[in-house]
Amino acid sequence: MLRFLTAGESHGRALVVIVEGLPAGVPVEASDITDELARRRLGYGRGPRMRFEADEISLVGGIRHGRTLGSPVAIEIANTEWPKWTEEMSPDPGAPTKVLTQPRPGHADLAGMLKYGFEDARDVLERASARETAARVAAGTLAKLLLAHLGVSIVSHIVALGAASTGPDSPRPGPADLDQVDASSVRCFDPAVETAMIEEIKAAGKAGDSLGGVAEVLAYGVPIGLGSHVQWDRKLDANLAQALMSIQAVKAVEIGDGWDNAGRRGSEAHDAIRYDEAEGYVRPTARAGGIEGGISNGALLVARVAMKPLATLNRPVLETVDVATKESTLSFRERTDTTAVPAMGVVAESMTALVLANEALRKFGGDSLSEVVRNRDGFVAALGSTPSAAAGAPGSGAFGGNEPEQTPDTGRAAG
Ligand SMILES: Cc1cc2nc3c(=O)[nH]c(=O)nc-3n(C[C@H](O)[C@H](O)[C@H](O)COP(=O)(O)O)c2cc1C
Repeated sequence: MLRFLTAGESHGRALVVIVEGLPAGVPVEASDITDELARRRLGYGRGPRMRFEADEISLVGGIRHGRTLGSPVAIEIANTEWPKWTEEMSPDPGAPTKVLTQPRPGHADLAGMLKYGFEDARDVLERASARETAARVAAGTLAKLLLAHLGVSIVSHIVALGAASTGPDSPRPGPADLDQVDASSVRCFDPAVETAMIEEIKAAGKAGDSLGGVAEVLAYGVPIGLGSHVQWDRKLDANLAQALMSIQAVKAVEIGDGWDNAGRRGSEAHDAIRYDEAEGYVRPTARAGGIEGGISNGALLVARVAMKPLATLNRPVLETVDVATKESTLSFRERTDTTAVPAMGVVAESMTALVLANEALRKFGGDSLSEVVRNRDGFVAALGSTPSAAAGAPGSGAFGGNEPEQTPDTGRAAG
């Protein structure tokens, strides 16, 4: 089992993540993690904090001379703004200088204050903040590094931002296209739609407003057999949905053509099964998003993740109540991003990687990376295919060699 826990507040000294269950021998360098963290910070519509805030990481445990030891991996991500917050966020006994008594709609502020008996919204918002996703991305990097040795690669791209969205003819990025996606300031793979998305952000930013959107996560090379139909909490789609829904501000998760399929006839909604001598069982379409009965079926894994517009606005328009006076007021103005959908896509990749790595270890478990790979190869060989086919070779075979689907049916990328 691969599990992880994060700790730390947005303006606290540091974020910490402990990842347990990685096999020994996975090559890891600090730059692998800082590169992924840099991807999370970028994107058009993000505020200055993202630009001046470098993620300084320390590998505290579980890695020696560039390889995992099989022991828990502990990573600390320092808050470079800590000197400014030392007193306000001090763990020592004392009191804050400024108490926030006006909970912001759309945040955990009010429910958290009432639930935990706080008078200061900061006691809630510091932990509810999406700064925590930096720790998830650090953990997700380790999962991605493991999955790479199993031939699995994960790509995300933005398919909707505000009113701008990709269409049925928009291309889907493959594993080799990730740099191109990241080169887009909105992480959109379709240049025409990218321009429309940027215009949306400009207009919303000018109005002091915010935007939500949809990221599509694609996992290539997922071998058949991850997850299980035998129990509710072992279903791959259920675990993916939970992991993705746990991302701050995410309000909907779709697997494959979930919403469209609900309106189709059964004859049009499923993926035919064919057999190919070289690739084994193949699926000409990926409407199920690569999962049937809670088990990966070897087709391209597709999940779409919808994020609500950011709740903190650069314009105080949202009505709230001052909990100290019970008087009606407007939500306090705070410097905030216009949108964080491009960054959310990177977090969604990480959460997908953590779920897939956990399921891969459950299926092909071993104490060292070579043992896990050997177990995977043995399973795939027993299915009648060669391990190299499972490692992401072209084709959409049920042994994991899935590739970008470009047919009108499956090439759909709209949210
Ligand atoms: C990467 C990322 C960045 C975010 N940045 C902001 C932000 O700048 N301002 C804001 O109001 N919300 C931001 N959020 C969303 C809030 O964290 C989220 O709305 C809040 O925690 C309540 O989420 P919930 O309704 O899912 O519980 C961000 C979310 C993510 C995933």
